[in-house]
Amino acid sequence: MPASPPEDTRAAQSSPWPIMAAGAAGVVAIAAIAVTQQIGPPAALAAAGVVTVVTALCVLAADRSGEARYRALMRSAAIRAGEPPPFASLVNALPDPILVISATEPEDLTSRRYVFANTAARDLLRIERDEGLLVNAIRDPDVLDAVDRALFTGHDAECVHEAGGAQTRTLRVHARPLAEALDGRRMAVLMFRDETEMRQVERTRADFLANASHELRTPLASLAGFIETLRGHAKDDPVARDRFLSIMQAQAGRMSRLVDDLMSLSRIELGEHIAPADQVDLAACVSDVLDASAPIAERRGVKLKIKLPRKGAARAPGDRDQILQVIQNLVDNAVKYSPDGGVVEVALQAGLSPEAASAPYRPGAARLSLLAPDVLGSAYAALRVSDRGPGMPREHLPRLTERFYRVEGQKSGERAGSGLGLAIVKHIVNRHRGGLTVESAVGEGTTFTVYLPMRSARVTPTAVAVAKVS
Ligand SMILES: Nc1ncnc2c1ncn2[C@@H]1O[C@H](COP(=O)(O)OP(=O)(O)OP(=O)(O)O)[C@@H](O)[C@H]1O
Ligand SMILES: [Mg+2]
Repeated sequence: MPASPPEDTRAAQSSPWPIMAAGAAGVVAIAAIAVTQQIGPPAALAAAGVVTVVTALCVLAADRSGEARYRALMRSAAIRAGEPPPFASLVNALPDPILVISATEPEDLTSRRYVFANTAARDLLRIERDEGLLVNAIRDPDVLDAVDRALFTGHDAECVHEAGGAQTRTLRVHARPLAEALDGRRMAVLMFRDETEMRQVERTRADFLANASHELRTPLASLAGFIETLRGHAKDDPVARDRFLSIMQAQAGRMSRLVDDLMSLSRIELGEHIAPADQVDLAACVSDVLDASAPIAERRGVKLKIKLPRKGAARAPGDRDQILQVIQNLVDNAVKYSPDGGVVEVALQAGLSPEAASAPYRPGAARLSLLAPDVLGSAYAALRVSDRGPGMPREHLPRLTERFYRVEGQKSGERAGSGLGLAIVKHIVNRHRGGLTVESAVGEGTTFTVYLPMRSARVTPTAVAVAKVS
């Protein structure tokens, strides 16, 4: 497509109109003189003829010089624009890799060449030139096969290509025939679309469904088994019947907790982008949870040690029910994973900087931030829950907040759980724009720290400064 001349080049062309206007004015002046001075018609005609010829010559000269200047400016504009041509810059700006391929003979593999590769294609295939032999750029037989089908059958073809590198990526490749080139070469375009993330989401969803149904199937199978036993040989055995019924009750409770957790997780996720509007007294929440947990801790001989700030000092924007859920899950874990007769420490501090709130607590323990806070200029309230339980090897820490994730060796017996608690904690803390860290040392214990901004998420640093002064 020819480039349209820039504005300044058009303005630079000499226009013949002023010269023609001057010529016409000359002819009119001679006619007026002929009338007023009574010069004879032959003299007036001769004078008008001279004026017309001179005007025509001037017009021609002006037109030539204008065109020459126009061409010179166009050339320099084209040079200034430089290569590649505008369509190539457009294709190079696209995030999807694209190659244009040409070929002559189906049998001759060396005739398959890529004649254009956009920037994304050069990055993906790690090629430096945007033209070369196709097999030097890509060796995947499925892709080469798709290219041949597009080139020689005239039909679209698709395949999936796994690209190696630091991180394996899955790309859908689409080959589409193009019109033949003027010299008779076959042409096709090869387009790649990165589907890595989409497949990851699909896998996560499939894993989630598989995990959820597995978790429900286990207690359900146990319930079905006991019902059968109760109808059969335990029918007339009151002692066995009582024992089986209490096991069934526990299994039904497990199923209902799982369904509650799943529903709670999806509710939290739905409202995760809406900042909580209420103000919550965190110290009162901690006291309520610990009062409720005391009987279970007592049964196991686990001592609960509490450290709270003075009343009203740790107020923060929050959803009370959700804050209670966070504290409950962390305290439940600490008690559950503590040895009988162990100690669980729960400490709440207010008015901390984000650095102080997330400062390491257990020297020498593996430490990981599971969620970073994102409210600038706020003071934080930090809740720390520590136990002296078995701890966790470092490699498990990054996965703790995944749904259904449980550390190997802690999946059965007293400590059975569904692995949803910490996923719930993370989503709630995220809704409150807070942070979450874990520190754990095998054989020594674990500490979880949740820190929440004490001002609402929308507060700007200037507003905070004004608030502090007043
Ligand atoms: N304080 C802790 N000490 C040792 N391991 C822990 C501790 N807290 C969590 N874990 C490990 O992290 C896993 C995930 O914890 P999470 O609270 O999500 O699930 P859960 O307690 O197994 O089940 P749920 O909370 O859904 O009843 C646990 O299964 C356990 O392996
Ligand atoms: Mg738990």
